[in-house]
Amino acid sequence: MSDYRIAILPGDGTGREVALEARKILDTISQNTNIGFEITEIACGGQNYQQTGEEWAEGSFEFCRDEADAIFLGAIGHPGAYLPNGDLAGGSVILGLRSGLDLYANVRPVKLFDGVMHKVHGKFRQIWEPEMVDMTILRENTEGLYHSLLKRASNRAQGMPEYAIPDVEFPDLKGEVVYDPRPISSHGTERLVKMGFEICQTRSGAPLDGTSRVSCIDKSNVTRGCQLFRRTFDSVANNYPNIATDYGYIDAFTQWLTRTPEHYDVVVTSNMFGDIATDLASVLQGGMGMAGSGNIGDDHAFFEPVHGSAPKYAGMNKVNPIASVNSIQMMMDWLGRKHGNTEILDVANTIEQSVSAHLSEGKQLTYDLGGDASCSLVGDLIAQRLAKSLSEQ
Ligand code: IPM
Ligand code: MG
Repeated sequence: MSDYRIAILPGDGTGREVALEARKILDTISQNTNIGFEITEIACGGQNYQQTGEEWAEGSFEFCRDEADAIFLGAIGHPGAYLPNGDLAGGSVILGLRSGLDLYANVRPVKLFDGVMHKVHGKFRQIWEPEMVDMTILRENTEGLYHSLLKRASNRAQGMPEYAIPDVEFPDLKGEVVYDPRPISSHGTERLVKMGFEICQTRSGAPLDGTSRVSCIDKSNVTRGCQLFRRTFDSVANNYPNIATDYGYIDAFTQWLTRTPEHYDVVVTSNMFGDIATDLASVLQGGMGMAGSGNIGDDHAFFEPVHGSAPKYAGMNKVNPIASVNSIQMMMDWLGRKHGNTEILDVANTIEQSVSAHLSEGKQLTYDLGGDASCSLVGDLIAQRLAKSLSEQ
């Protein structure tokens, strides 16, 4: 019996609903395998801040750092919930964990499952076959344009004094001037790019031609930080002679991503570019309701659906729980590799098969995929499929 401690942070809005479905998957695993999960729920986020005056209870960051083997986060963000300093309330949770636990890679798989329509042309017109969209985007997660916001959040999460941005003057600018530094380091880039190449080795190449390829997406024609990012990419790439590389500027990439997604296998990019590009990329996989992610470092990780709190759907039991189920799938894959536990790796595969079977049957889908099933019903049906497959193994 292997036991793992999992922290569940439901957060705000629909994050709370999908966290229930994530938990359903974890419970299904413990009921049908030798793997046990000890689950601790931690209330947090902007709504929690408005109600209690705290983003999360004291000691929560330390629990995630020192006690939890893995973390699931629903979503952070509540309309009007900002801290007195202007930062997003709940930022201590999502950004504090990213920076405070040094989770340097935000890993966002973009895969179009059989039975799901991508959303490029209007509502439900299909252009690509599912097998043409299967890539993983790695977004740098600790520096870049988010750096000062991340530092403020992680200092707050750890009870440290507010992080101060270094003073820089812009005497040529007029009126009020606000400045978000965008530092990019060779260390931060190197470890991100290395993880990209390592992930590439576990995949079967780009859908187009099966070529294993890592694409470096930057804006190195104009920014110094991106020039360093690309130079560092090249030096890491030298250690992987069997993996092809290519390059794109972020602006042009947004066209290629939507025109020829089949070209891409693994993509590495900086923080803000990755934030924007992965929302766009989710359109290729049927929308945000399908997009799971992992915030991954060397020792810790948290997993979250990319869709955010979606306040207008909150409390309606309506949103697609599959992004969260896919995030739990990633959690199992990460835990399995970290602990050399093949049973958990098998569970990760079985979750993927259960999601895939549910989607290709195409019967009970949430509104975003053209159906009218509820969030909890889809969660139930996938959990039932998972239970059946696990109990037969
Ligand atoms: C994401 C979100 C976050 C980000 C917000 C909620 C701080 O958009 O995970 O992509 O900007 O990184
Ligand atoms: Mg985002």
